[in-house]
Amino acid sequence: MIGIFDSGLGGLTAVAELRKALPNADYVYFGDTARIPYGTRSVETIRSYALQDCRFLMSMGVTSILAACGTVSTNALDTLRASFNVPIVGVVEGAAKKAAQIAKNGRGKVLVLGTPATIKSGAFEKALNKNGCRDVISVACPMFVPLAENGYTSVNQIPALEIAREYLAPVADTCPDAVILGCTHYPLLSEVISYFLPHSALVSSGAEAVSELKDMLISSHRDINGGGKGKYYVSDGVESFSKSAHRFLQAPVSDVTVVDINSY
Ligand code: DGL
Repeated sequence: MIGIFDSGLGGLTAVAELRKALPNADYVYFGDTARIPYGTRSVETIRSYALQDCRFLMSMGVTSILAACGTVSTNALDTLRASFNVPIVGVVEGAAKKAAQIAKNGRGKVLVLGTPATIKSGAFEKALNKNGCRDVISVACPMFVPLAENGYTSVNQIPALEIAREYLAPVADTCPDAVILGCTHYPLLSEVISYFLPHSALVSSGAEAVSELKDMLISSHRDINGGGKGKYYVSDGVESFSKSAHRFLQAPVSDVTVVDINSY
């Protein structure tokens, strides 16, 4: 069984990809809805939250983990890998590889969008450099998370349009070949991001992580042949999670249970 987690609803964009890529895989999803956002917190706090999230998933019997959170992947992945004896995939490597490939066939420019903690970590830049891409601009977009969680995602909604303008208008004339959506909430804002960057390819970090996870699971014969069942756990607000989840998952979510994450 695959364990997937995020600070809230964002990781469900990766679950949507997982359900397409590995329809028979069973999974457990944990959204830390009581402690979102992670992206404005210290590295120490992000690590300690991520450790608790993974301890909970391990207690459910998972045998692989997808950290479907850019903030965790860029600040806590090494800590998690050193602490748990199962393969753990984050959202950085796959997205960097894909964006570098796109840039190679273009003007060589990549824009990284992420939470403040993700951008501060420099992890996407490092991974892009490793893949031969050196022309990287990064922008922290903290307000994108509440916009996505509250359903403000279209160019016809003034809060979404104006907040995106604030973050993206200053970098729009750099015309990046690819934009890494370095936070798993951001695919919901694709329409407004493309409005300001119409010629850039959007790279979903969650989707690329799922394709990396799929390759890893197939080659290690793990976790792919179940009944395609998903269970959802949150640390608070079962009702509001269930209500908003379909926008991220593109499918209704039932079977949501609350967990006392502080006890893990
Ligand atoms: N989904 C999380 C990420 O990918 C961001 C949300 C947060 O700030 O907690 O970084």
